[in-house]
Amino acid sequence: MVRIKPSTIWQASKLNRFLPFLLPECRSIHAARQELRWIQDESNDDYQVWKRCKLRYRHYPLQYILGSQPFESLNIKCKPGVLIPRWETEEWATDLAHRLPKNRQIHVLDLCTGTGCIPLLIKHIRPDAVVKAVDCSPLATGLAYWNSKSLGISIQVIQGDILEHNSTVKPQKVDLITCNPPYISQSTFVKETSRSVKLFEPKLALIGCFEFYADLIDHQISRAEAFVYEVGELSQCEYVCRRIVEDPILSKVWRVGFRLDANSKPRVVYGYRRVAITLDWPRIFEEFGELKN
Ligand SMILES: C[S@@+](CC[C@H](N)C(=O)[O-])C[C@H]1O[C@@H](n2cnc3c(N)ncnc32)[C@H](O)[C@@H]1O
Repeated sequence: MVRIKPSTIWQASKLNRFLPFLLPECRSIHAARQELRWIQDESNDDYQVWKRCKLRYRHYPLQYILGSQPFESLNIKCKPGVLIPRWETEEWATDLAHRLPKNRQIHVLDLCTGTGCIPLLIKHIRPDAVVKAVDCSPLATGLAYWNSKSLGISIQVIQGDILEHNSTVKPQKVDLITCNPPYISQSTFVKETSRSVKLFEPKLALIGCFEFYADLIDHQISRAEAFVYEVGELSQCEYVCRRIVEDPILSKVWRVGFRLDANSKPRVVYGYRRVAITLDWPRIFEEFGELKN
């Protein structure tokens, strides 16, 4: 990472004594001023501002300091131990929610829900949807429940490990499965993840490889009509596609595609049944991404 020039630190201190504390995370005076404004708006006095700026100097995430993160029109509560919602997720989740039909009791299951940002947004945009959210972390399910109550958006929150399958319990059928699983490989985490994320966000929410995509094909897909899974890299999209294309039954039943984010990075792998039973999935997913099968 490029070091901050002493002249930039000096210039920042001339503008405001708190700004130099924010430079290591914000990297520019412009971004530091914006962040200082947010901190000042939500602090009681200069002493609290100073304490918060010192936390930022130690790379503590702003969302844990202020206690929330905007996610489209929702203010999602955040707390340590639960992943902070990202703009990349907000982007596809917002588009997806608006594509779902209005006034329909569509059943949505969000796996790896964290704060509950995805299911809460879907339910907010499509109030007739019946939405369930699952996470294995009690901190996450507690926060998702709290978010649901404080926003007045009713979703069912369940604690459970989605990779553990009880062969005696038949999984419930749903229309749509959404999931933003942990997808950063151990080596990428060590080499490329920012200090703030590495030090303060939960590894349980971040580190993963192909296990959640394998679980999608082996267990989740059979109970759904459509799925949307966030990915961290192209190989995860390709893995899901390959598993579908190379399976003689799945390839006949499923269409599958990728979607890029605003930075042109692969961000989502999605699929839907060719013969729609309840909903017009080809129409819902029209130009959502690029179909590969
Ligand atoms: C990348 S975070 C996504 C959080 C949220 N959906 C979002 O987009 O901000 C992944 C979440 O998966 C949960 N998780 C990890 N392993 C899991 C498992 N085996 N079963 C259920 N949830 C799991 C973590 O606790 C974490 O909340």
